[in-house]
Amino acid sequence: MERRLVVAVAFFLFKIVASSKEWNLSRRSPSQNEGLCAQLIQPSGYPCTEHTVETKDGYLLALQRVSSPRKKDGKVKPYGPPILLQHGLFQAGDSWFLNSVEQSLGFILADSGFDVWVANVRGTHWSHGHTTFSKKDKEFWDWSWQELALYDLSEMITYVYKTTSSKIFYVGHSQGTIMALAAFTQPDIVDMVEAAALLCPISYLGHISSQFVLRLVSTHLDQMLKAMGIHQLNFRSDFSVHVVDSICNDMDCSDLLNAITGKNCCFNNSRVDFYLQYEPHPSSLKNLNHLFQMIRKGKFAMYDYGLLGNLKKYGVFKPPTFDTANIPKSLPLWMGYGGNDALADVTDVKHILKDLNSKPELLYLDSYGHLDFIWSVKAKEDVYNDMIRFFGSSGFWGKSTSF
Ligand SMILES: *[C@@H]1O[C@H](CO)[C@@H](O)[C@H](O)[C@H]1NC(C)=O
Ligand SMILES: *[C@@H]1O[C@H](CO)[C@@H](O)[C@H](O)[C@H]1NC(C)=O
Repeated sequence: MERRLVVAVAFFLFKIVASSKEWNLSRRSPSQNEGLCAQLIQPSGYPCTEHTVETKDGYLLALQRVSSPRKKDGKVKPYGPPILLQHGLFQAGDSWFLNSVEQSLGFILADSGFDVWVANVRGTHWSHGHTTFSKKDKEFWDWSWQELALYDLSEMITYVYKTTSSKIFYVGHSQGTIMALAAFTQPDIVDMVEAAALLCPISYLGHISSQFVLRLVSTHLDQMLKAMGIHQLNFRSDFSVHVVDSICNDMDCSDLLNAITGKNCCFNNSRVDFYLQYEPHPSSLKNLNHLFQMIRKGKFAMYDYGLLGNLKKYGVFKPPTFDTANIPKSLPLWMGYGGNDALADVTDVKHILKDLNSKPELLYLDSYGHLDFIWSVKAKEDVYNDMIRFFGSSGFWGKSTSF
């Protein structure tokens, strides 16, 4: 029984729709020495530089700055408006560059004239560890999306804002929208943001429709793994690789993964091997635990340490909630969501809209699942063109002469 549960969680975490029955993650791993620029972005001809940001709690994050190789009037274009791309759970900055140059949002934004900044949160392959702890220490994994929002995102936004002397545009996917909706309730952070686009927006998970995930939640898998002394969720460990390989021999992984993320309409099955060279990235068990708390309680709140733990941490018995009504009305928001998304359910998206003071622009795609918003072969036509139009309609764009 225990083994079956571990297998199940491996799949939940492994948010990749694949039809291949021959996954073997141990032979696919990004190089240990090179950064994302050298491995994935420069080979396509795009200028890219690596940056390191240190958080208040000592994590060393990697940021990449990407521009277009296309020249205008024979001259290299000056940097346009800065835009920060924030990836989702078990993903990292590579996720914006894994389709072709014409299909991937990172390349498309650079070619549209943006000064593209790529975020990578703590624990991912590209981040550079911690000033004191190693990845083997349990202290290294003592965080959830709350710290990703209040420390990682806050620090990365500040860095880009200071480096470019400009307010920034923001794009987040999935967990990257949880981080944004939490961080934007903080006046010092949101003041640096010009406008934001949220793909598969999540602040509530109370109506998650993935039966599979719901089963993991009701069997308390997170608490069980915690009791086993697990802190890091890493699907490239020998154990996980073995588990994933053995389950994929027994059943159709494609069906199971569609059951987790929702059916993705426009996923390129021939690219799975390539995706697997880069993803999935590690995360912490505490993060999974926090997400499961959201599903159990239907609240957008800080991590629940239990009555006494909360009293010690927050000075109150219940974890404080993030009140999205505090996001300023003046912040232009755009949201893209899908009818087949089993994680960002339409009912929960409507709940976000009810809470907000502003009226975001909405793009609803009936056939889109959770991963289509980053990897659909038609995402440019279906999603990104409208997102770029939205960014262009903000006052900022008019101030710039080069677009
Ligand atoms: C995965 O690939 C590695 C390296 O090629 C190999 O040593 C290992 O036996 C493979 N694992 C499985 C389960 O096939
Ligand atoms: C799907 O991926 C394969 C392999 O990378 C590529 O050759 C093909 O052009 C892609 N299909 C589409 C529709 O983008």
